[in-house]
Amino acid sequence: MVGETELAAVARVFESGWLGQGDVTRAFEAAVRERLGVAHLVAVSSGTAALHLALEALGLPAGSEVLLPSLTFVATPQAVLAAGLVPVFCEVDPWTLQIDLSDAAQRVGPRTRAILPVHYGGAACPPEEVRALAARHDLRVVEDAAHAFGSSVDGQALGTLGDAGCFSFDPIKSLTCVEGGAVATSSGALAARVRQRRVLGMPADGWSRHTGTKGWHYDVSDRGYRAHLPNVNAAIGLAQLATFDEARARRQAIVRRYHRALGEGSGLPGIRPVTQPSDAVCPFTYVVRVAGGRRDGLMTGLRARGIATAVEYVPNHVHSLFARPELTLPVTEGVFREILSLPLHAGLTDGEVDEVIEAVGEAMAEPITGECS
Ligand SMILES: Cc1ncc(COP(=O)(O)O)c(C=O)c1O
Repeated sequence: MVGETELAAVARVFESGWLGQGDVTRAFEAAVRERLGVAHLVAVSSGTAALHLALEALGLPAGSEVLLPSLTFVATPQAVLAAGLVPVFCEVDPWTLQIDLSDAAQRVGPRTRAILPVHYGGAACPPEEVRALAARHDLRVVEDAAHAFGSSVDGQALGTLGDAGCFSFDPIKSLTCVEGGAVATSSGALAARVRQRRVLGMPADGWSRHTGTKGWHYDVSDRGYRAHLPNVNAAIGLAQLATFDEARARRQAIVRRYHRALGEGSGLPGIRPVTQPSDAVCPFTYVVRVAGGRRDGLMTGLRARGIATAVEYVPNHVHSLFARPELTLPVTEGVFREILSLPLHAGLTDGEVDEVIEAVGEAMAEPITGECS
């Protein structure tokens, strides 16, 4: 949610006269770095750019294979392709929707060099198991923490557990810059490579030259992209950070409310939540599984009552870009037919959550025939 505070922050950037990447970007980076407790934080233009630049910064040989769940937003495998690497799609655990690490282990081959766990819904992929698999096969770990800003495991922020962690601050995320992203890392060298490539391979950004901390002349020695985070977007993120804990607590409260009504023993047959309430998680989604082939009908029934829901996600291995006749992932395909994300954002009132719950009950009681696409 954005409002007056974010608008005022943008107005101050307008008044400053420096709209692009600059001092506000730096302030946002410092605030996020501190919150995560990580050595280096590089803000970029999107979560997709964060993944692309972080993967590239690993310096893996072209064509190296990267293990990742098929059940993720298409940004994840697209970033792998953009970095000149090959996505290897893995199954997910059917009840956590996190990558199935025993399935991933079976897909390790001679060219596998990295694993890209996605912290689905803001909950954690088990870090010890990820680390053990990575250590066994000498894999680099890049976390897709696009959903997971504000989540932690054993007190450590998600996105700070591997070689690099990638965040998204797009319009629907728990913290938004309208568009934006970030790479977190303990490696100064990796951070420096991302920093240089986000500004077209230039050794410093325009702000450093403007303020005289770097000279006007520059030499470009590396490839790069237009992937920086302007002051305008950083100002929105900074304003959001000031109230983030309230928004996080509200999201958790909504999940608990849904869970009391839809969780185990709730008496609503056919609906089983995937998302579990947790004080360590800033929940991005509230996902249920709908049994008996009723998911699409429920979606239609809710839409008829003015309630928008989503299926997150179409598994990537079925997209024509990635599909191969021999590649089937039966667990993921089964889960895909049942998952549904109910509305979740910090602006929802208790009354609105109750309306959704009631509508789910009503729609599930109807003979469901509708199709959703
Ligand atoms: C799992 C996942 N990875 C990466 C991204 C990409 O982030 P962005 O939209 O900021 O490019 C998203 C965005 O929704 C996502 O859900």
